[in-house]
Amino acid sequence: MLRYLTAGESHGKALMGILEGFPSGMPIKEKYIALQLKRRRMVCGRSARQKIETDNLEIISGLYKGKTTGAPIGLLIHNKKIVSTLSQNSIPRPGHADFAAMLKYDITQSALIRERASARETCIRVGLGSFAMRFTELLGIKIKSRVTSLASSDLSENKKSIMAKIEEAAKMGETLGGIFEISAENLPIGLGSHNQLDRKISANIGRQLLSLNAIKGIEMGSGFKFAELRGSDSIDGFEIKNSELCRTSNMAGGIEGGITNGQTLILSCAVKAVPGIKKGINSINLKTGAKVLVCSDTSDITAVFAGAVIGEHLLALELTNHILEKFGGDSFNETKDRLFLWNKQIAKKLRKSAENSVRL
Ligand SMILES: Cc1cc2nc3c(=O)[nH]c(=O)nc-3n(C[C@H](O)[C@H](O)[C@H](O)COP(=O)(O)O)c2cc1C
Repeated sequence: MLRYLTAGESHGKALMGILEGFPSGMPIKEKYIALQLKRRRMVCGRSARQKIETDNLEIISGLYKGKTTGAPIGLLIHNKKIVSTLSQNSIPRPGHADFAAMLKYDITQSALIRERASARETCIRVGLGSFAMRFTELLGIKIKSRVTSLASSDLSENKKSIMAKIEEAAKMGETLGGIFEISAENLPIGLGSHNQLDRKISANIGRQLLSLNAIKGIEMGSGFKFAELRGSDSIDGFEIKNSELCRTSNMAGGIEGGITNGQTLILSCAVKAVPGIKKGINSINLKTGAKVLVCSDTSDITAVFAGAVIGEHLLALELTNHILEKFGGDSFNETKDRLFLWNKQIAKKLRKSAENSVRL
């Protein structure tokens, strides 16, 4: 089983992460991880802090001379902006974890909650997820993302108008929500299982993505559109094309009954407009009861572009987990050989079905 844990605060010394259960012998360069971190950081809609933080990575363990060793992978990302004395106030910011967590943990200083609940934590998850991105990539699986909507407008628009929309929101002291889509091509048939809820790959992917800050909805394949369709319009049928067994469509988004079916995995996530807005939101000081206007000068304008990159890494982690569960292997080559053999066997079976069908 692949597991990971993170620790660290937004303005603490560093973020740290441990990835356990990752096979040995997979080549990965530090430069590759740095590139993934940069992809998360340098996207549209982010705050000025992203220019301050360089995501200074230190690999503590699990990698030797450019290859994983099979030992737990330990990463540190040193923060540049370290704050040793945090604001003392007891003002929860609506839309964040502050209010419920202050009461839950009996903490009066809202900054203590904010520091950990911040999406800065996703930086270390991308660091850990880089190993899974590389793993899937080397197995021929292609994970991609794109933003399909920003504040309800579809993004067939050019980059200039997207930037204009973000700048306009920034001027108004507002933030914007959106939708991103992630796809994974060339997945083997058979990841996940219909047999138990915690083995359904759809449920496990959902768990990963819903753990990402500001994600308020997830659609697998055609998602909510299914609710409007009749049964006969909701099915990806079978057909024989050029002597191959094919599907007529991919509305399911590559998963049926909690198992990958060999089609491209497609999912979409709704990202809320981030709650830290410059023009301010009303709150209350929990200690004094005074009404307060909470303004955020350092907030991102939209998290949808960064969310897409983070989402790719979370998906890669879950796919890697399922690949390791299905094919096992303590070294990368062992897993790779088993997966390639499986793909070959499945292709042979499907060819046979198609041949038989053509003969009928
Ligand atoms: C990449 C990313 C960046 C974010 N940046 C900010 C931000 O600058 N300001 C803010 O108020 N919320 C930001 N958020 C959203 C909050 O972290 C999130 O909405 C909040 O922690 C409450 O959690 P919930 O929305 O998941 O319930 C960001 C989220 C993501 C994914």
